[in-house]
Amino acid sequence: MNNWHHLAQQEVVGLQTKVPLLDGRLIRYINLDNAATTPPLRAVAQAVQSFLPWYSSVHRGFGYKSQLCTELYTRIRYLILNFFGADPEKYTALFVKNASEGLNKLAHRLPIAEQEALSSWMEHHSNDLPWRLHKQAKFIELTPEGTLDLGDLETKLKTSRPRIKLITICGASNVTGVVNPLQTITELAHYYGAQLTGDAAQLAPHFPLRLAGPRAAIDYLVLSAHKMYAPFGSGVLIGPRETFRTGTPAEVGGGTVLACSREQVVFAPPPDRDEAGTPNLIGAYAFAVALQWLAQNNLTRLAKHEDQLTRYAFTRLQTVPGLVLYGPSPQRYPRIGVISFNLEGIPHGLVAAYLSFEAGIGVRHGCFCARPYVHHLLGLTKAEISFYESLAKTGKKCELPGMVRISFGFYNTKEEIDLLIEALKTLRAEEKRIKNRYRIDPVTGEYLPTSGKVKMFIAQHTADLFNLRA
Ligand SMILES: Cc1ncc(COP(=O)(O)O)c(C=O)c1O
Repeated sequence: MNNWHHLAQQEVVGLQTKVPLLDGRLIRYINLDNAATTPPLRAVAQAVQSFLPWYSSVHRGFGYKSQLCTELYTRIRYLILNFFGADPEKYTALFVKNASEGLNKLAHRLPIAEQEALSSWMEHHSNDLPWRLHKQAKFIELTPEGTLDLGDLETKLKTSRPRIKLITICGASNVTGVVNPLQTITELAHYYGAQLTGDAAQLAPHFPLRLAGPRAAIDYLVLSAHKMYAPFGSGVLIGPRETFRTGTPAEVGGGTVLACSREQVVFAPPPDRDEAGTPNLIGAYAFAVALQWLAQNNLTRLAKHEDQLTRYAFTRLQTVPGLVLYGPSPQRYPRIGVISFNLEGIPHGLVAAYLSFEAGIGVRHGCFCARPYVHHLLGLTKAEISFYESLAKTGKKCELPGMVRISFGFYNTKEEIDLLIEALKTLRAEEKRIKNRYRIDPVTGEYLPTSGKVKMFIAQHTADLFNLRA
């Protein structure tokens, strides 16, 4: 067992979990879906467990436990700001439940008018729809291979009327893993009088991201703890205190005011103004412990291992007959460990089902909440897109275009990639026979085995989790 595997065995919860296969065997689960969410760190689970006896209210109550929790919550905020190199005098960190909430909050909160925000066509829906719905958005075009067209970005900054006030862009794509040059884009943005929001949901778990770069500082950063080994419902929106000093938050209520009488309401300064109600202290604490663990265990070193896995997987996947990869290779363009592909002639849903039910490998398939980007990478025409949209409205999910996605955490190994490649080659070689073992579920549109054994196991297992019998 190599060092990485050894480290991971001890540090991540659930790596030895066995799952049932269609043929009745139990097999160790291989999680290649870290871009969706990561398993918890053992350090996080243990810290939460030890803290629970001390759990109490934050900013409410004056008992010892309440005071302890209030102090802890304040320190967590500083720790998070510090981790991302954000000066607490200048920046604040607002706790949210995930990156989606952070981006929605920002889109609501910034004084940005119609057409003044510039997003891109490679964004996750969470960094697209909040801007679109407020009619703020324009979009940066993409190169044919699916990277940002920086020429188009600069043209739009130079020529757009009204002028662009905000660029909001992912640090890394959740479809191809391509890493955007956030530092260069920040400099460009500032040069043309705009600010930059980094949607760091994918980048932050795999790169030691700092707001303050050598020449310019990113203005806003949004991320989710559940993608950073702390799945307890927390995330942050980091931004200049000044932004959140005025204006009306999207949600108001307990904790957000300095004064409230029959006649008037005086909102509190940041961060309280934007954190209505009792905060998720456990989630924030878990997040801070995870960040501390990543810092102590040298995130750069962890990322290096992931980079090796990505290059290895990219090369090995090309040995599977008829496998199509999307985006530039990691040899040519910086990427995190997110790789999307298709197997020619086999629906993406069937590939994912086969890997799950017959190899115990967890992947994701579909459009990954980034439909415009997936359409671009698949080279779909406008007519094809509108045809598929009409199919989607009728619920025919299995016929929709998409891809299969694998994504790595620091604990994944080359051996796991080898098992994936072996499974894909078996699927290719025994395609016809394997296809016959699956049917399309009329309700979900997913491929399911004709035998209902695994689904029954899941139903039983779910009931057991409540200690109830089905
Ligand atoms: C790039 C990117 N942004 C935003 C999100 C939304 O994150 P969450 O689901 O935690 O809100 C995701 C989720 O996958 C993502 O990949």
